[in-house]
Amino acid sequence: MSLEHLAETKGQIKTLEKVFKTIGVKPAGEKCDATDGILKEAVGILAEAQGVALEAGALAACQAVEHYEIARYGSLREWAKVLGNEPAHVLLSEILDQEKAANNKLTNLAVTSINK
Ligand SMILES: [Fe+2]
Repeated sequence: MSLEHLAETKGQIKTLEKVFKTIGVKPAGEKCDATDGILKEAVGILAEAQGVALEAGALAACQAVEHYEIARYGSLREWAKVLGNEPAHVLLSEILDQEKAANNKLTNLAVTSINK
């Protein structure tokens, strides 16, 4: 994870706190089985792959995280819209756009460099 992505993630946590405020709920950390599984897969890739395959595998593992985040934030923001929570819809859309941008950066990196 780059420092830029880390800063973005910290900003997303603050944005999520605002989302929780819109529904009057105090946020609490919760274990995510899906992310744990994706990270477990990444550890396996890093342990088995070497050289250029390691770089391509690591990038693909990062993209799997982004794809999962896109799926979840996409659903959450649509549910916010359906429930009439426009502030949450806007906030979650901001995060979704960031996740899509991160995914696009990884795709560009793969296509223009790593996969070559
Ligand atoms: Fe992300």
